[in-house]
Amino acid sequence: MTTHHPRPTVVLVYQRISLPWVFESAERAGIDLVLIPRPDEAVSEDRLPPAVVDVLRLDIEADRAAALNVLRRRYEQNTFQGIVTLYDPAVPFVAEAAELLGLPGIGRDVALGAQDKRVMRARLAAAGLNVPGFVRLDDPADWEKAASLAFPVVVKPAHGFSSLGVTKAESPHSLKSVVDQVWQTCASKLGQVDGLVVEEYLDGPEFAVESLAHGGDVRMLTIGYKGDPQGPHFEEGVYRAPAALSETVQDDICREVKAAHRALGITDGPTHTELRLRGGVTPYLLEIGARIGGSGVSQYIASGVTGIDFAAQALRIAAGIATEPLGSGTLPAPVAAAANYIVPCNGSGRIIAIHGLDELRADPRVDHVVQMLFPGDIVRPYPDFTGYPAFVLSRHANIAEAEEFHQFLDQAIRIDYGHEEQA
Ligand SMILES: Nc1ncnc2c1ncn2[C@@H]1O[C@H](COP(=O)(O)OP(=O)(O)O)[C@@H](O)[C@H]1O
Ligand SMILES: [Mg+2]
Repeated sequence: MTTHHPRPTVVLVYQRISLPWVFESAERAGIDLVLIPRPDEAVSEDRLPPAVVDVLRLDIEADRAAALNVLRRRYEQNTFQGIVTLYDPAVPFVAEAAELLGLPGIGRDVALGAQDKRVMRARLAAAGLNVPGFVRLDDPADWEKAASLAFPVVVKPAHGFSSLGVTKAESPHSLKSVVDQVWQTCASKLGQVDGLVVEEYLDGPEFAVESLAHGGDVRMLTIGYKGDPQGPHFEEGVYRAPAALSETVQDDICREVKAAHRALGITDGPTHTELRLRGGVTPYLLEIGARIGGSGVSQYIASGVTGIDFAAQALRIAAGIATEPLGSGTLPAPVAAAANYIVPCNGSGRIIAIHGLDELRADPRVDHVVQMLFPGDIVRPYPDFTGYPAFVLSRHANIAEAEEFHQFLDQAIRIDYGHEEQA
């Protein structure tokens, strides 16, 4: 007689099905998904990714306690082994749900430490990590508390994501107006603001690190180059990995990232860390997310560079079935380069046409063109961010070829705009 082993099931919170990588990893790993779609997303049952076995409609932001109750009932009636999200604002909810149901996770307090930039900065500083001078503002009227920082500074929401509202202030003279403006942007875009962080501007190129933690072991998979955005707003742009860095700098980055996991208590699951090399040499964290980054783009990058199925490992950790050891802390040898290019808006108004994307879909270097904006959609200028037009995900022999490809994309993609009123 054979024993029946049900397939492990993981609840996936607020993932858009247009961003396919985590669904594909689940399918490869033999893990079933219960999808909780974003409340604003219409998902038709006949177009679900194969890994999705059930759809649960739940608004986790409107009524947290009610959402936790629904999950508990679902768990009792039809059990599942884990719960995850790639959506940053949902990380604390997911951690709390896992805690409540006795599933693997980092716990709500650790999740808040990674999600709330005020708490994160305080915990990193207390652990002696590289942290820029910073001040928390619980009220915009307190802006003068930040005037004694070394300028320029960056003003950002405590619970922000996607660079929303993040704005540079060049001098104390503009601080009040920048604080007011960021507060207003966040109030209108995030619905609520419960505080800001003002911190010294970190001058130097930006990098992202994809890591997996399990049982307190942290393994860095890849370090990628994220450009050198100067502000005043920080629209996301390129991501190319593996970054061309000396071994010394790579080691410094890995040491800082590992220490950050320890300082914040992130012992299990995937993480996405962003940092700048201050003065071109010293790693300073911008933030660390206790999730797979970029709605799954990090899965594309990390698996493309290392050959390791990052998201599948993350799902196994979430389901409590990870058996393979993570290996040592050193970066695995890259097998290729992988890149993401976020098409810049380069203007505003009503989109008339986006040129160049169709040709790219046939380009052998390109795996995915994920288009988010279409003719007829309206793009408003920063800080009123209305979304990115498209992602172009590609693979290359090395990072130099990825960079060359991105320079080509700068010329090859063009958006025509008309006035907003034009139909
Ligand atoms: N202290 C800083 N110095 C320099 N650039 C910063 C600083 N803080 C944020 N930025 C820029 O703004 C972007 C978004 O900030 P981040 O803290 O990552 O917030 P979000 O959660 O919105 O991504 C960063 O990727 C970086 O380019
Ligand atoms: Mg960020």
